[in-house]
Amino acid sequence: MLVSAKEMLEKARAGKYAVGQFNINNLEWTKSILLTAQELNSPVILGVSEGAGKYMTGFKTVAAMVSAMIDELNITIPVALHLDHGTYEGCYKCIKAGFSSIMFDGSHYPIEENIAKTKELVETCNKLGLSLEVGSIGGEEDGVVGMGECADPKECKAIADLGIDFLAAGIGNIHGKYPANWQGLNFEVLENVKKEVGDMPLVLHGGTGIPADMIKKAISLGVAKINVNTECQLSFAAATREYIEAGKDLQGKGFDPRKLLAPGAEAIKATVKEKMELFGSVGKA
Ligand code: 13P
Repeated sequence: MLVSAKEMLEKARAGKYAVGQFNINNLEWTKSILLTAQELNSPVILGVSEGAGKYMTGFKTVAAMVSAMIDELNITIPVALHLDHGTYEGCYKCIKAGFSSIMFDGSHYPIEENIAKTKELVETCNKLGLSLEVGSIGGEEDGVVGMGECADPKECKAIADLGIDFLAAGIGNIHGKYPANWQGLNFEVLENVKKEVGDMPLVLHGGTGIPADMIKKAISLGVAKINVNTECQLSFAAATREYIEAGKDLQGKGFDPRKLLAPGAEAIKATVKEKMELFGSVGKA
């Protein structure tokens, strides 16, 4: 059964570990992440961007696939199905489709409008028992572009006070691969945000390529959810490339999609395992 991410993230913040949000793109992705989380007895959040939702033919398909898979694979760990960087309209589509958690990214609206829309979503999500994340961060993901800006702690407080469940504050993190001249996470900003918002679980987007020591420090300062997308894509692509370059698709029935996609699916499992171990969520289901 799908659950809201509120309780798992409050537990993570109190226990000083983080739950991974792993973005999904298709059936193989979803299956690899769910099986790894179950094997490691870790809570997990499946992230769906609006682009990935469209690719999978719509949010209704995604919700139906994830719910059925949890059932058929006998998944018993807590799983949240979460809209990643949702537009206002996208949030309502996912609520209707049966998602258990929503991120509203209203960062392109003027702050007053962002606040008004957030307030309305808080009410709707509370009524339905869904968790709500609000915020924005830099980099590009499915057309959502930012530059690694740092959040204004006072604005974070204004948003946190609206009754949201967890907050994504930019601290120099960026979606996708980090550029060679990246300055690293800004822990001073993170500490100031934490001072303003207190015990609210914080979310670190752009989890791909952040060094382990920075991840651990961020968790110690209140980060309870870390989003990973690109890293699974890179490991899937590398394993698939290796299979094809070794000519394995040309041997016997190596072209069978179940064989062709298997090394990539295994590579996703290995990446998810590595991240769950680093984030400290193993055994916390
Ligand atoms: P990466 O693609 O950099 O791992 O970021 C994922 C993310 O933050 C999803 O919202």
